[in-house]
Amino acid sequence: MNFLNTSEVNLEFLIDSAMRFKAGDDQAKPLSGRSVALVFFNPSLRTRASMQVGIYELGGNAVVLEPGGTSWTLEHRAGAVMDGDKTEHVAEFVRVLERYCVAIGVRTFAALKNWEEERTDPVLNAFAKYASVPIINLESAMHHPCQAAADMMTIREKLGSGRKRVVLTWAWHPKPLPMAVPNSFALAAAQMGHDLVIAHPRGYELDEELIETARRHSSVEITNDIDAAFDGAEVIYAKSWGAKQFYGDADRDLSERAQYRDKWIVNESKMSRTNKAVFMHCLPVRRNVIVTDGVIDSRSSVVIDEAENRLHVQKAVLAKIL
Ligand code: CP
Repeated sequence: MNFLNTSEVNLEFLIDSAMRFKAGDDQAKPLSGRSVALVFFNPSLRTRASMQVGIYELGGNAVVLEPGGTSWTLEHRAGAVMDGDKTEHVAEFVRVLERYCVAIGVRTFAALKNWEEERTDPVLNAFAKYASVPIINLESAMHHPCQAAADMMTIREKLGSGRKRVVLTWAWHPKPLPMAVPNSFALAAAQMGHDLVIAHPRGYELDEELIETARRHSSVEITNDIDAAFDGAEVIYAKSWGAKQFYGDADRDLSERAQYRDKWIVNESKMSRTNKAVFMHCLPVRRNVIVTDGVIDSRSSVVIDEAENRLHVQKAVLAKIL
């Protein structure tokens, strides 16, 4: 089985497994003598390190490849005439790798050029199309399921099981960023049955189809009022993302968002409106841009535990799909 987004798994079971790994109660080595390929088109600290360490702790070996860097540039389009700068096609890349490796993880961010095309995750799906081994999404244009599962584990660990008032808030950032993290967080929070509030300025809506899917799981409230959104929140999850309407025109997004710089930041005064909320962010985070030092360094911040949980979740994902 693949792990392309959280809809494909029972998150409660996955978190149970991750908790057992974290507690040291699961010492299984399902990857003993086996290798897993990790393909990174983009930079990473947490995903790369937690996957490499997780594979090692499960008895296996990680093969890390960076197309265009430590491996050849890759074409993913079917039928492409490869007379440009791409040296190898995903068709051969995947079929060769799976002769060595039992699964392939892929990180491939949105290029933020064409929303309608990128929302279909063309690169990730090309890997899935040609592979006969499991494909693990390590963050694509649309989804970051490993992050979202670690986020849900962190909420359960800090606040216990059961429905919580969870706020996903957009924050100002000096450049447009992909939507994979907020998409997956919203979907996973709804899958877990939380009362989800999404706060963002007008024009920064998430994918409509994804929100409709989330609404089939739980309540989803969308607001353009960041202050009111914090009232009574038990979780504040901050993230910036680019506006779909400005994909391909970053300058228009930058001029639109300029008005939100001082308003859309997580600070002490907003946190004081919450119900003793924990502060979460997937990291990396720009201090005093997305969140003030006062909040991220406070006792309410759980960002480091959240990052640690990436490791336990990666192991749970690997153990499940292999
Ligand atoms: N949160 C996350 O995916 O971090 P990296 O980009 O460092 O992997």
